[in-house]
Amino acid sequence: MRTYLVTGGAGFIGSNYIHYMFRKYGDEIRIINVDKLTYAGNLENLKSIESRGNYTFIKADICDSAAIRRIFQENDIDRVVHFAAESHVDRSIKDPEVFVRTNVLGTLVMLNAAKEAWELPDGTFQEGKKFLHVSTDEVYGSLEDENAYFYETTPYDPHSPYSASKASSDMLVKSYMDTYRFPANITNCSNNYGPYQFPEKLIPLIINNALQGKKLPVYGDGKNVRDWLYVEDHAKGIDMVQEKGRLFETYNIGGHNEKQNIQIIHIILDTLQEMLPEGDPRRELVSENLITYVEDRKGHDRRYAIAPDKIKKEIGWYPETRFEEGIRLTIKWFFEHEEWMKNVTSGDYQKYYEEMYHE
Ligand code: NAD
Ligand code: TYD
Repeated sequence: MRTYLVTGGAGFIGSNYIHYMFRKYGDEIRIINVDKLTYAGNLENLKSIESRGNYTFIKADICDSAAIRRIFQENDIDRVVHFAAESHVDRSIKDPEVFVRTNVLGTLVMLNAAKEAWELPDGTFQEGKKFLHVSTDEVYGSLEDENAYFYETTPYDPHSPYSASKASSDMLVKSYMDTYRFPANITNCSNNYGPYQFPEKLIPLIINNALQGKKLPVYGDGKNVRDWLYVEDHAKGIDMVQEKGRLFETYNIGGHNEKQNIQIIHIILDTLQEMLPEGDPRRELVSENLITYVEDRKGHDRRYAIAPDKIKKEIGWYPETRFEEGIRLTIKWFFEHEEWMKNVTSGDYQKYYEEMYHE
């Protein structure tokens, strides 16, 4: 049975990926999820699969090289899918240090532990072992020309401490592939949205605030563009790259779905109005009057846009979920998981580990 080591699986994309993999492979695979459970890690995201015999959770910091090496020594790991990272740009502007620690040093620890476990005496690697490093399109910088796109060959030009730390981690993975022929891939994906996203990011923040009649903060002129991808499409893309991609290659994953932030906010408000049932008191709260222009983010990248040509041509992946559908699925999920949002905003979700694993 193939064993996956997933880092950061209690976060937004990692937990969606784990659900996707169990839906797809069932009992054919085993997943070990290693997560430090920072503010962004939430084991409630994995409640429905936590009792599976082929799932194990380990609370550990990816910077703790002894703990990570032990996991490799005690388990025959076939695949690493490395999500664990500090992921929020605004936090990186306030406190860059933890971004370098987790994103750069943590990735180095993961690379060294996998290399040590998988390397043969002649310097080659055991057959079939693969490491996938999950990264972002933000490493490419900001597109000023509206007809330009990010390609795998676009030079790196990160601007925020977050994107600089992710760019550094990509470079480390690349150096291991180039120096040791370490069996890896890098994926650079555009902005994700969907279930389990922490409400510090634009889409869940707007949904949550609008439903409570709270202000909807728009940075700057609201015309910055992001390329939004439904998270399940990302999970599928990661799996397809690992199964069908050429080793040592980078693949961009994107939604071909560029929207200005202000457009996103209007779509969310319209969809909420449409989906909230007649007589629901929240219909009165959801209003364009909540839109509030605030000071711009420092160094705010203007536009991101991916041309996912390579992954489509080589692997056959394409974004399956249209934005109109994805945003409805996301809003429906938030409607059905009010408790999840309450626990996240109150901080109660951080007690779940103690209750589940230490009582
Ligand atoms: P997230 O912030 O929701 O989750 C990160 C997870 O990593 C959390 O569970 C957290 O507890 C864990 N973690 C943080 N530091 C750790 C450490 N030192 N040791 C172990 N675990 C640690 O992030 P996300 O949005 O799910 O992003 C996952 C990955 O995908 C990141 O590498 C991010 O750069 C990348 N990415 C995200 C997006 C996006 O739109 N969210 C887009 C492209 C790429
Ligand atoms: P975010 O979800 O933080 O993702 P990223 O910065 O990684 O792209 O932000 C998406 C866009 O929305 C970005 O241009 C910043 C903007 N934004 C707001 O206008 N208001 C907000 O409250 C937030 C969180 C983001």
